[in-house]
Amino acid sequence: MSTSRFLRACRSEPVDCTPVWFMRQAGRYMKEYRHIRERHGLLHMFKTPSIAAEVTLQPVRALGVDAAIVFADILLPLEAMGIQLEFAPGEGPVIHNPLRTGADVDALRVPDPDADLGFVMETLRLVRPQLDAATALIGFAGAPFTLASYMIEGGASQSYLKTKSFMYGDPAAWELLMSKLADMVTAYLLAQAAAGAQAVQLFDSWVGCLGPADYRAYVLPHTRRIFEALAARRVLSIHFGTATGDLLPLMRQAGGDVLGIDWRTPLDVAWRRVGPEAALQGNLDPATLLAPREIIEDRARDILERVAGREGHIFNLGHGILPPTPVESVKALVEFVHNYSAR
Ligand code: CP3
Repeated sequence: MSTSRFLRACRSEPVDCTPVWFMRQAGRYMKEYRHIRERHGLLHMFKTPSIAAEVTLQPVRALGVDAAIVFADILLPLEAMGIQLEFAPGEGPVIHNPLRTGADVDALRVPDPDADLGFVMETLRLVRPQLDAATALIGFAGAPFTLASYMIEGGASQSYLKTKSFMYGDPAAWELLMSKLADMVTAYLLAQAAAGAQAVQLFDSWVGCLGPADYRAYVLPHTRRIFEALAARRVLSIHFGTATGDLLPLMRQAGGDVLGIDWRTPLDVAWRRVGPEAALQGNLDPATLLAPREIIEDRARDILERVAGREGHIFNLGHGILPPTPVESVKALVEFVHNYSAR
């Protein structure tokens, strides 16, 4: 029997209380993080295992969460595929050679995770022995659609028009791109599991810009291939996206032991849409953590009441922690969830 309540909840097994962790739990809202960040560029932090391991552990020490997530970024593997990536101060990620043509897709290489991204595996190997058995270690990757959107748009987007034009305009190049990304992600997540990740999360953060018919035609087969490979190797997995309310049944078909739900869909509604066997993760609006304590507790209580004692719930936000979030509020939320849900 696993001693980690996070891992037990991933398998919908009974727990002593609801496990909790936060997407983007390492970051600028923590002074310990800012202290290191002042002295180093972001890419240097990701690629230096001693620094990345320290940053991975910071929120575990400060918040009392049930899981650590390795400090890395979904865009790092793209560099090894031939993409020129920069984290520009104040702008977020910028890609200097966005994909424009089928020939650009042909030129992408599929990286070897241990050779090209060994620093992530080394970070996992450094972190695992520093966690107690009750605290799980999570690995992650971006999903093919979300990665393709960065590669084609060249950075963040509101409308994903370049991505959709590419998808509709050159379906053969789109298929090749998604296949290469699915191959990369599969090998990368299996390598993370071999290096100590006990569960992996696939971030399809921006897939909610698609309607169900396009999700089914252009995304689902590729994402499903990743989850099938993980399941065949018994690697626990979480499938996450935002604005996915009407895609949830299809995302469930694509796979994952746990489905990540954003705050736009109440958990009881999500469960009715995907069926009772799925485990769910979520789903407090990250902006709630900027509110007074009573509002945070009120919204957290509402989530736990919608779960109504079902097994297979992991408490999280509906998306990542926002930079202006007060650390004390996050810490109080962890305590509230553990206490309120105690069996
Ligand atoms: O959750 C964690 O604590 C682990 C680390 C983690 C990072 N990025 C570190 C990071 C994880 C899980 C990610 C995932 C990620 N990266 C996603 C998917 C999750 C989501 O938010 O939807 C996406 C879309 C990215 C791409 C990315 N990286 C963006 C858009 C940005 C800039 C915006 C921002 O939040 O600053 C980054 C930079 C980045 N990645 C930071 C961190 C901690 C910011 C760090 C800094 O400037 O000091």
